[in-house]
Amino acid sequence: PGVAQYEWHLTVAQAAPDCFLRDVITVNRQFQPTIDVTQGDFLQVNVFNDLPATYPQTSTGVSIHWHGLSQKGFEWQDGTGYASQCPIPPGQNFTYLFQVNEPAGTYLWHDHSSQLRADGLQGALIVHAVGGQAAEAWTYDEEQTLLLSDWFHGEGNAMGMTLERPFDLTKATAESGHWRWVSLPQAVTINGHGNFLDCALIGGLGNVNGTALSETACKVTDYTVPPGRSTQLPWAQPSNPGCTHANVTVEAGKTYRLRLISAVSLVYLTVCFEGHNVTLITADASPIDPISFGPCVDLNSGQRYDVLLTANAAPGNYWISAQPQYRMGTPSGFAVLNYKGVGAALPTSAPSQPGSVKPWSLSQINSIHSAAALLNPGASIASAPQPQPRISPDNYIFTSNAPNLQVPAKTRTVGFNQTQPLIATGQIRWALNNVAHDTVPPCTPTLLDVYNNPNYVEQFAVPANAIRNLTAPGQQVGASQQPDIYLGGVNFPDQPTTGLNILSVDLGEVVEIVLQNSPASAFNGDYRGAATAASRTGQEQHPFHLHGHHFWVLATGNGTWDPNSSPASYNLVNPVYRDTYSLLANGWAVIRFEANNPGVWLYHCHIQWHMFIGSNLYVVEGAEHISKPPDNYPACPAICTYEDAPYTTP
Ligand code: C2O
Repeated sequence: PGVAQYEWHLTVAQAAPDCFLRDVITVNRQFQPTIDVTQGDFLQVNVFNDLPATYPQTSTGVSIHWHGLSQKGFEWQDGTGYASQCPIPPGQNFTYLFQVNEPAGTYLWHDHSSQLRADGLQGALIVHAVGGQAAEAWTYDEEQTLLLSDWFHGEGNAMGMTLERPFDLTKATAESGHWRWVSLPQAVTINGHGNFLDCALIGGLGNVNGTALSETACKVTDYTVPPGRSTQLPWAQPSNPGCTHANVTVEAGKTYRLRLISAVSLVYLTVCFEGHNVTLITADASPIDPISFGPCVDLNSGQRYDVLLTANAAPGNYWISAQPQYRMGTPSGFAVLNYKGVGAALPTSAPSQPGSVKPWSLSQINSIHSAAALLNPGASIASAPQPQPRISPDNYIFTSNAPNLQVPAKTRTVGFNQTQPLIATGQIRWALNNVAHDTVPPCTPTLLDVYNNPNYVEQFAVPANAIRNLTAPGQQVGASQQPDIYLGGVNFPDQPTTGLNILSVDLGEVVEIVLQNSPASAFNGDYRGAATAASRTGQEQHPFHLHGHHFWVLATGNGTWDPNSSPASYNLVNPVYRDTYSLLANGWAVIRFEANNPGVWLYHCHIQWHMFIGSNLYVVEGAEHISKPPDNYPACPAICTYEDAPYTTP
């Protein structure tokens, strides 16, 4: 096998991706660069953390995660701060080296130690088929990548984190000290370009649920310039040369594979190609039955879809829009689909209203795009527009693997209830089964702890504490055949435990995870609402990502998962096989994966700050089979808060 080699120097630069000048993180002075590697080759990335120690002000370093790559046999290379490694401190470097034994397809890379994704430290990771395009299962002429980000005018860490580390809960207050909510992004960028000044345009676009978005809504700058930072000046005019839309240039008659990547920190996006239909061919790098919903496709944070688009419209310029569906008030992002030979320019007409572009209503989006249609992708083949990809049913990953889904003897079901409780200080956390993953940096990464002691997880007061047969408040662990899930909804205890949240699984198990979404404590429609019992009516959707695996999404549903009736709806024949799925607002989802990959794998909400405040779980898998750490493993920061802090029960 070959080796794709990269040497990365991370530095801070000033840039204005959305026309607003701020400090961003660059890689070799480039913003959000792409990694290309061929299937089966090694990828070597030597990451130099050349960021000044004062930037970001609250970070102790960086680590790079390769989102969607299972890292089988390379569990030390997963790039998760405090799980697989300690972060690379400022002034030091770490060389990632692993073989890319994954299906060819579309992935992404991003920082996974703090909130630096939001400062630009992320990009596309493309795994090319051996033999290149000719060896792909679909016919197309060219390919392009569209990387979607949401963009804030504040720094990721400063916005969402305490201003000091280690964390001191005693200093916490709801809005200032320990943690505060980041509010809405100021822009959505496509390939690093957006325009937060498109407010007039946004105002026309953003009429959602009867509320028109105002110009002020898209100019929110709820952020104070940190001391020592450059003064941030808006670039006043879109005519500024740094301020432009991305062009996606196509040639009339050609078919393009567009790799759509949602690298957002927060918002759920609907991406629309005006005047064109797109056909989805892969979900998170897995082939799917080709399906088209017309011009649009939804992506949640961390998800990817590859689509085919044929340039068969009248040559001209067409809007590509990326419209938020949750977190309303976030301005949409725009790019231009430009036909070669026609001067690149903004289309003369305003972008279509969402209602006229999208064939579905807001309430249907989750069920259509996130899972339901993809659970039964065969249904729509007949109506899929040309070109028909040349792919036979035998190529479907989910078909060939379907027998694995029917091994109930080895299947273990665990359930998690995601809640948004308040900790003792009155602050908001996200919790899985009432355990909020702790935010304090430990002194050793968990993978190293487990490697040094395969029985590591047993030291916790509740071994594998996630697996609790909670069927009523206060009920304790039992050996029930019923899935381990607590379905108490709003009655769930308010004060969660904080600590390491661990699910321990054995190699060879098929693990089924039922994930229930429960009403939030504090979300009452505005994200700063008072957390009163009366306000606990709100829900939001969450993109859940599992490291180390792809999984089958068996079902999603509205309301409360029911052990008696819900399993009847599971698709055990041809479910989509992916690495990031949507937990519906006011709903549930069920996934299965094969425990075949020793390591410590995160399972978390991919909304950056949800993960940070607790929506995170470590799957400790095949603990006794973890391989030897690499020689150049980074040392942990001198300032760490605990050594093997025991987990305590509520
Ligand atoms: Cu892309 Cu753990 O994340």
